[in-house]
Amino acid sequence: MNTILTLNNLNKTYEGGFEALKDINLEIRRGEIFALLGPNGAGKTTLINSVCGLVMPTSGQILFDGKDIVADYRYARERIGLVPQELCTDSFESPWHTLHFSRGLFGKQRDGAYVEQVLRNLSLWDKRNNMIRTLSGGMKRRVMIGKALAHEPKLLFLDEPTAGVDVELRKGMWEQVRALQRTGVTIILTTHYIDEAEQMADRIGIINNGELILVDRKEDLIAKLGRKEMTLDLQEPLAEVPASLKGFELSLSEDRRRLSYSFDSAAEDNGIARLLSGLHKAGYECRDIHTKQSSLEEIFISLVKKK
Ligand SMILES: Nc1ncnc2c1ncn2[C@@H]1O[C@H](COP(=O)(O)OP(=O)(O)OP(=O)(O)O)[C@@H](O)[C@H]1O
Ligand SMILES: [Mg+2]
Repeated sequence: MNTILTLNNLNKTYEGGFEALKDINLEIRRGEIFALLGPNGAGKTTLINSVCGLVMPTSGQILFDGKDIVADYRYARERIGLVPQELCTDSFESPWHTLHFSRGLFGKQRDGAYVEQVLRNLSLWDKRNNMIRTLSGGMKRRVMIGKALAHEPKLLFLDEPTAGVDVELRKGMWEQVRALQRTGVTIILTTHYIDEAEQMADRIGIINNGELILVDRKEDLIAKLGRKEMTLDLQEPLAEVPASLKGFELSLSEDRRRLSYSFDSAAEDNGIARLLSGLHKAGYECRDIHTKQSSLEEIFISLVKKK
């Protein structure tokens, strides 16, 4: 089966009437990295916690491997790992013991070699015997990841895995997450860092005000919703935009040597040929041409604003 997780019409209304999730439908494919992107309070943690059994949905159904996670809760729990948003570790324990303990809680056989591998992959081997309270914030976060991996889950949730982690380490963590994917683990992560989603995810879901606005493959999202901008470096400064080009969305730089044209990259006729020939007819030639695709960040902001 290619779907590992299915959410059907999932709703969560918190006590007091706040609707944190509104009719969420989502399928997660086995082996993918899925990024859930959304502003503060969008409902990301509520969604994750619903799957992990920490939040009771108001209505709807969640299937893991096709089995209802309420009816078959043991089956789901054994195979799901969660790195929660908040740091919560036992300050007076060591990474080594924490991981073994966590593995034991899930009823798994003790496996020193496995725990060693996890700690090494997270660059925590040197710190394995240190008290967790003596580790740095980024190290503590990696201990949490180790804890979530201790029982060898098939689906791993990372709720803002790199909050508070420095740029260099973040890149290292992305690499570790990809390595985890190669071992067959499906990963769902939430993030505010759009570059993180852009770097890591196979598919992206955008959530805002409890609604899943859209789910798409990263490349398709960028191709579909993105606008492109073409910049023309002109041989001669342009006194003003020729009347024949008034129909185009153009802007002229201050020195009048650069003309920028913004267009819909998915449109059948993007207007480039007409623009270039119009410019030529008006007696201007280009020295150079660049195009730029709008980033996921620009797309995200325009989507969230629209709603
Ligand atoms: N236990 C609760 N009782 C009442 N409201 C809650 C509870 N937990 C969360 N909420 C509300 O539900 C909404 C969604 O919260 P949630 O934690 O899911 O957002 P999030 O997308 O994870 O945000 P962030 O990016 O800040 O972590 C927020 O408005 C929050 O205040
Ligand atoms: Mg959250």
